[in-house]
Amino acid sequence: MKKVTVALVGAGLRGINYLEYAIQQPHELEVVAVAEPVRARRESFQARHGIPDEMCFEHWNELFAKPKLADAVLICTQDQQHFEPTMKALELGYHVLLEKPMSPDPQECITMGEMASKSGRVFSICHVLRYTPFFSTLKELLNRGEIGQLMSIQHNENVGYWHQAHSFVRGNWRRKDESSPMILAKSCHDLDILLWLADADCTQVASFGSLSHFKASEAPEGAPLRCLDGCPVSDQCVYYAPRLYLTENTDWPTSAISNDMSYEARYKALQEGPYGRCVYHCDNDVVDHQVVNLEFANHVTAAFTMSAFTRDISRTIKLMGTRGEIRGAMEKNEIEVIHFGSGKVERITFEDMGGHVGHGGGDMGLVKDFLNLVRSDGKSQGLTSADRSVQSHLMAFAAEQSRVDGRNIRMQEFVGSFSKEN
Ligand SMILES: NC(=O)c1ccc[n+]([C@@H]2O[C@H](COP(=O)([O-])OP(=O)(O)OC[C@H]3O[C@@H](n4cnc5c(N)ncnc54)[C@H](O)[C@@H]3O)[C@@H](O)[C@H]2O)c1
Repeated sequence: MKKVTVALVGAGLRGINYLEYAIQQPHELEVVAVAEPVRARRESFQARHGIPDEMCFEHWNELFAKPKLADAVLICTQDQQHFEPTMKALELGYHVLLEKPMSPDPQECITMGEMASKSGRVFSICHVLRYTPFFSTLKELLNRGEIGQLMSIQHNENVGYWHQAHSFVRGNWRRKDESSPMILAKSCHDLDILLWLADADCTQVASFGSLSHFKASEAPEGAPLRCLDGCPVSDQCVYYAPRLYLTENTDWPTSAISNDMSYEARYKALQEGPYGRCVYHCDNDVVDHQVVNLEFANHVTAAFTMSAFTRDISRTIKLMGTRGEIRGAMEKNEIEVIHFGSGKVERITFEDMGGHVGHGGGDMGLVKDFLNLVRSDGKSQGLTSADRSVQSHLMAFAAEQSRVDGRNIRMQEFVGSFSKEN
């Protein structure tokens, strides 16, 4: 098997996580270069992968100023920093694995998709759910016709109350202008899965939702701007930052608040940094609950709910067909197939594939699939394609537009409005 070489742009949480694959399977993948402005991150990644000094860069433009130095590039910078390095990498002839969302700008998503077809390079988006045993089993059951013809899908993304507070109230994805709307940042995976399971183009989208809880009008009386500033409700507040971040457990999400995991450094991060702010006094504007209704060209309908107000971080789904029903709970690793008539119920269970941090086994499955595509020089078929990713991103943009404008969106017109701008 040919070993694939890659360069990483952005040695943050996601980039580091995917490239653990090179540590686990060194005969399949070697990391040969990194671009990362934060010195501590760059040096720790360099040491982990044994990268020589001359292959470590502060900015992606220094890496791309060199002649092509690897087969592929992983672009794992933040949402608004995806477009430029992706275009440059494709122009230089690299195969590209890009983090989702492709971009917060629909036109940029379309342009990257077009650039990828022109360049003939592999361009995969990190839609990790397609690679999980859970969702690939659902797809397989539908393909085998286990429930006859699929008619309706009900899908829930249960964000988890503390996860919402961490990432979408205090953290990096709290503001549309700095990252993306919630439906893109958090749920573009889910729209991609719905497109995959429905197996037809999406024709119409309607959405509702708002930011109703994590705002100043909902703050308990006397709540200060920061939890550590003598909050009078610290005992009852489930979002009290010291209880979330100053425990013995320094795994994610605590690992995101500081590069130094000592108690003192974390305490300081809560005194000064974004994660110590009262959840009712942040500068967040993304929604905390949203629903999206979708119709597909084969008349399959889907109802999707994203909500912050759940105990678990999980995804639950119901697929309704002409001959049966499938119910699934991703985090429980359980699928139930119910056959009409005979009443037969089949239960499928999976081993724990690493929980939500590794997306139920999806992260490593995705890297493996990408490496296969790179080895075949883009000639073999992957589980997803740039075109499908562009389409599922456009569904997310349409949902956001529907939510904001309060109207139904027809996908053909919506997509056409961008081609006119070209
Ligand atoms: N696929 C998924 O399920 C999933 C899950 C979480 C996040 N994400 C997405 O992954 C992306 C990265 O998220 P993260 O949590 O790793 O963020 P992060 O902030 O931890 O990492 C981004 C890194 O990019 C670096 N960077 C900034 N400018 C750079 C430049 N000019 N050149 C090179 N590097 C630069 C930053 O210093 C940082 O270390 C985001 O787009 C996010 O939305 C995807």
